[in-house]
Amino acid sequence: MNIFKSAKNHFRKWCYFDPFSGSGLFDLEIAGNKVKFPGSPLLSYSRHENFPFSEYYFADGKKSNVESLNTRMNSLFPGSDLNYRYSTFSNSVKYFDNLDRDDDSVLAIIDPPGHSQIPFEDIQQILEFPAVDMFLTVMTSGIHRNIELSESYDSITSFFGSEDWAHLGSGENIVQEYKSKLESIIGNKIQTISIDMPTQKLYDLFYISRNNTATKILNDIASKLNQITLNDLTSVISKQSPDVKTLFDYDGFNQEN
Ligand SMILES: C[S@@+](CC[C@H](N)C(=O)[O-])C[C@H]1O[C@@H](n2cnc3c(N)ncnc32)[C@H](O)[C@@H]1O
Repeated sequence: MNIFKSAKNHFRKWCYFDPFSGSGLFDLEIAGNKVKFPGSPLLSYSRHENFPFSEYYFADGKKSNVESLNTRMNSLFPGSDLNYRYSTFSNSVKYFDNLDRDDDSVLAIIDPPGHSQIPFEDIQQILEFPAVDMFLTVMTSGIHRNIELSESYDSITSFFGSEDWAHLGSGENIVQEYKSKLESIIGNKIQTISIDMPTQKLYDLFYISRNNTATKILNDIASKLNQITLNDLTSVISKQSPDVKTLFDYDGFNQEN
């Protein structure tokens, strides 16, 4: 939260950019049961009174998700004046064209369903913005699964930004090399957190920042998060703060989307 205060003091705008926002809720299967969790837009906006961003950008490539998110946010936060776009990721990246490279800063939450929705050039364009911090989920398990499939060649090439991945041999090497490529864009080390199920790795969460203080704080969080299992997640989120807990009680939780 100190990072937040420092950003607010130094920039004209402090923007929240969530181009894979989803519907506001996501499903997880825990011990055979489907459980709904508040997604990234709800978690970020539920804290806006204490930690407000000056601008929120929410978008999703599925129209019904955008409509559900709009309805859900209006019910939960009446009067909030937020924008919800029906837009692909590549189109959302144009958001950065309207920002001031000297005076604005952005927190980007990039949470695609897989590697094929995040072309390298789009991630690169965002990271070339001077004051951007990014949380990026990389579906490592999907890359591992698909690496041998000829029909995945184009999507992995687009994700990686060149055909060089084909010589790297394993999915693990591809993700490591991808990380190095991003590190060379920002000129700093990237912190990663492995998000695992009891029997398999789900994805890697990359925290990408030019700010070393922020990266150090994330190192601490990472060591704690690495000890949390999905079974603990409900209690972790519920205990996190009263305002987040009320999201679980909202009856829109039972809506389909
Ligand atoms: C993993 S979910 C996002 C979850 C969300 N961040 C949350 O916390 O609930 C990925 C979302 O990306 C959307 N999506 C898929 N392809 C997309 C694309 N090319 N551009 C934008 N959104 C896309 C899907 O409709 C889905 O809602």
